[in-house]
Amino acid sequence: MPTPHNNANKGDIAKTVLMPGDPLRAKFIAENYLEDPVCYNEVRGMLGYTGKYKGVPVSVQGSGMGMPSIGIYSWELFNEYGVENIIRVGTAGAIADNVQLRDVVIGMSASTNSAYASQYRLPGTYAPTASWSLISAAVKAAQEKGGSFHVGNIFSSDTFYDDADSLAQWQKIGVLAIEMEAAALYMNAARAGKNALCILTVSDCPLKGLSTSAEERQTTFRDMMEIALETAYSVK
Ligand code: HPA
Repeated sequence: MPTPHNNANKGDIAKTVLMPGDPLRAKFIAENYLEDPVCYNEVRGMLGYTGKYKGVPVSVQGSGMGMPSIGIYSWELFNEYGVENIIRVGTAGAIADNVQLRDVVIGMSASTNSAYASQYRLPGTYAPTASWSLISAAVKAAQEKGGSFHVGNIFSSDTFYDDADSLAQWQKIGVLAIEMEAAALYMNAARAGKNALCILTVSDCPLKGLSTSAEERQTTFRDMMEIALETAYSVK
């Protein structure tokens, strides 16, 4: 049965879904990496496709920007469509001094300024964490690929244009990079008893005023995609 946000029928979506923020990236991945891709969703332009990678069914679907958006799409994938693994693939701003433009960052955990966890009414502070099965597979794939990568705590922010200018404080406590979706994805996965991971490429260094060109973003995006696809393959 379709949901209010997704036209797919049950069975249309693979066990493992790659989620870029941008739905056109989902189209790019489907058309360039998957065998026989079929589009299963066009509602709100949030394109979703299922195809095969090395013979294994894999889906790829846009998440939109920010935690409310990925919160909706990932909740439905886990709870309505039986998806087991979601791997977010996206861009991030570097926070740690040793994280450079074009590096890959694997988000082991995601600190956040979002109130997403308040819905669970926990008597303390929850620590959104990625799944070890996906972290370990992604690290292996990144090592085989050979580029520069980091594994650690990322920061999922509700604001892109942030008046509080708080990145220096997150840097002091060892956070690697800023993005806007992982914490909600990790919480939805934990609550559903499923698996999630966020793999990022560093598109800019807000503390140093640096950013990559659109062309560079495309190349580094490809490296990250290949790591994500190999991760999906190894949890088949
Ligand atoms: N802030 C939030 N999200 C981002 C950034 C940033 O600087 N760069 C890429 N994604």
